[in-house]
Amino acid sequence: MRNKGKVLFTTGAGSGLARAVAQRFTREGGRVAVADFNLEAAKKTAADLEGAIALQVDVTSEDAVKQAVGAAHKHFGRIDCAFPAAGIADFAPIEDWSLERFNRMISTHLGGTFLCFKYLIPIMKAQRGGAIVTVASVAALVAQSGNAPYGAAKNGILQLSRQVAADVAADGIRINIVAPGSIQTGMTEPLYVKRGDGDLAKGAAMSGKRCPMNRVGQPDEIAAPVCHLLSDEASYTTGHCMVVDGGQTIV
Ligand SMILES: NC(=O)c1ccc[n+]([C@@H]2O[C@H](COP(=O)([O-])OP(=O)(O)OC[C@H]3O[C@@H](n4cnc5c(N)ncnc54)[C@H](O)[C@@H]3O)[C@@H](O)[C@H]2O)c1
Repeated sequence: MRNKGKVLFTTGAGSGLARAVAQRFTREGGRVAVADFNLEAAKKTAADLEGAIALQVDVTSEDAVKQAVGAAHKHFGRIDCAFPAAGIADFAPIEDWSLERFNRMISTHLGGTFLCFKYLIPIMKAQRGGAIVTVASVAALVAQSGNAPYGAAKNGILQLSRQVAADVAADGIRINIVAPGSIQTGMTEPLYVKRGDGDLAKGAAMSGKRCPMNRVGQPDEIAAPVCHLLSDEASYTTGHCMVVDGGQTIV
């Protein structure tokens, strides 16, 4: 019950990592604002979680993020924690990217994280404290074929988070970063299916061979360290990037 009584605002929570964080955070005694571009998916996540609300948000829109954060704050009366995780995957050689496609990648990941900071931090400052975990990736740390704009966006999130963490530390707000390896979610399953010639399990097994633990991760294996970083267990930890990748980046 390490997050008992706390309120979490999370984006991308209709699926994958943020849904797992919303589920675990609720099991740990908190309540969650489940925001996603896909409102039906957000509602599905929230329906199983005691005290949760579902919100529609497009994290590339300043107005939409402002409204979603405002609605969550109005409903719960406070926001203690945040996990801005909305994201997209898109691979191609760099010469095939239009500027519009590139900007979509940057504005979804880096812009979405920036907007969440912009509208959540004043609330946390007024409360004299809060905790945020942002989502980078091993792609922020090592090169991956056809994934340069994603890697750039994720590296941007890493440094944006560290910079802001320093700015708000004296206000009692902690900001940490999680950098997952390959985790089986709605984002990666189509990639595993493609890699496995139509066979999800085969493709996931092939993807897992890239790391010393010889398997891909499951969403709750990210949710557990995220909920630790959001909780008071991590009360002296800020600006830290926790790599959770089955050892992928140590070899
Ligand atoms: N799964 C992995 O292996 C992995 C690894 C490293 C980092 N990540 C990152 O973790 C985060 C979550 O990914 P996931 O694997 O859970 O993916 P997912 O596809 O399962 O979930 C992403 C969610 O984000 C939502 N979304 C997309 N664009 C949005 C927008 N503009 N506004 C609001 N919501 C939007 C989608 O509707 C979806 O529900 C992403 O930032 C991703 O880049 C994932």
